[in-house]
Amino acid sequence: MLDAPAASAWAPFTPPYPVPRSPVVALIRQLLEGEGNLLGLLPAEAYHAPIGPLGYSRRSIIVVNEPALVRHVLSDPEGIFPKSDLMVEALDPLIGDSIFVSSGATWQRQRRMIDPALSHMRVNRAFPDMQAGCDLAEETLAQHAEAGKTFSLDLMMSHLTADIICRTVFSTTLETRTAHDVFDAFTIFERSVAQVEFRRLIMDRAWTKVPQRAHVLEACRLIRGHLGELLDRHLAAGARFDDIAAAIIAARGLDGGPGFTREELIDQLGVMFLAGHETSASALTWAFAILAMQPGLVARLRAEIEEVTQGGVITFEHTKRLTLVRNVFRETLRLYPPITFLPRIANAATTLGTYKVKRGALVMVAPWVLHRHRGYWKDPNLFDPDRFLPEREKEMTPGAYIPFGIGPRICAGAAFATVEATLLIARLFRHFDWQVEAPHRIRPAARLTTRPAEQVMCRVTKA
Ligand code: HEM
Repeated sequence: MLDAPAASAWAPFTPPYPVPRSPVVALIRQLLEGEGNLLGLLPAEAYHAPIGPLGYSRRSIIVVNEPALVRHVLSDPEGIFPKSDLMVEALDPLIGDSIFVSSGATWQRQRRMIDPALSHMRVNRAFPDMQAGCDLAEETLAQHAEAGKTFSLDLMMSHLTADIICRTVFSTTLETRTAHDVFDAFTIFERSVAQVEFRRLIMDRAWTKVPQRAHVLEACRLIRGHLGELLDRHLAAGARFDDIAAAIIAARGLDGGPGFTREELIDQLGVMFLAGHETSASALTWAFAILAMQPGLVARLRAEIEEVTQGGVITFEHTKRLTLVRNVFRETLRLYPPITFLPRIANAATTLGTYKVKRGALVMVAPWVLHRHRGYWKDPNLFDPDRFLPEREKEMTPGAYIPFGIGPRICAGAAFATVEATLLIARLFRHFDWQVEAPHRIRPAARLTTRPAEQVMCRVTKA
């Protein structure tokens, strides 16, 4: 038997990324391949310019990289950069005018009401549910290990994070019929939603209405119906539940103003399901695939876990002290930010620095590009979790790392996601060795989130 590699043997490495091409080559390849992967459209210039146009399209598309301009667009002090028309329209049948897509006073009221439901204290209270989801995952993995079974890493992570959202938001599990139906309909939605359809992006003018396909609308109707059932169970039970849904139901506007209506609650709970599991599943799929290929890094993680927990159960407090585990998660979010693009639309003609922006332009802040920008990162494509150590902080460009967004619209679930990912990485690598099949075939694609273009198949053995 081979000895485990010494922790010190590990060195940073370069995980897969699409080699950027000139704008014309990028466009032709995209049209020929037709797989709708927007990463392939990003020209080499995007990774070193502060701001500039993207490709050839009917509407103006601008990529913004300069951190001060990024902050300006996302903070939007003049109220002229709402979420892009493409995104709002695509998500409307699922989540209506909810916190993820709304703007102005509507968004302000919603944010004030939702923030407490995802506060640090609330995440602490949700931690036992995260642990229970993890227990179940460990049981499943032990069975796979015993049977020598090959399984889809992507699907396993989607199930696991959806189960944790069901437990923490609704006090139910993914094993129930209703939750499973939500998950299945969500998968249909995610695969077919026309949010970033390549041809629309190039051919359509701003604010062009394109009807969603019938089966997408049917999936949304099903999801909303089931969310309504889960909600009614809570409404009927009064104060019996102590979960995130209960906190959102109890939330009141300023000065005790009215809470959310039933329809609004379904919208907001839809956001919890959408934003709360798909993003984490994307990040964890990448983190697990990377770690599976880097046994030397896993050896370092295990040494840290044993030192922090002294061989005991991983608690909420421990998650804050597992520095390397957190830094692996941070570095994964840098190289594979789940939300690849943060698109806004310019509602009025304006300037960004000296760059003229036309009314109707699509203004793209792209964490994917910003996190690999040559001007802001040393060895941008290298996976090196230690770049987040305090002693190397001076290497970082403030505002160039935004996996959770920046400004007032920063992710409301960032604390939830960080604690969840730290726990899952630490526990599932502590007890299992992971191997991915055909690692050379793994390549990233930008869909609803950043995902491997093909499913990653893997196996586990007991560590
Ligand atoms: C690794 C996991 C996650 C990542 C990378 C992520 C990333 C983001 C980003 C980039 C935004 C801002 C979008 C924009 O400005 O256009 C956002 C917003 C949001 N996220 Fe997350 N998210 C994650 C997990 C979660 C979780 C677990 C929840 C809830 C349980 C959540 C709830 C939200 C909500 C409610 C918003 C809307 C905030 C607003 O507009 O005021 N997210 N997320």
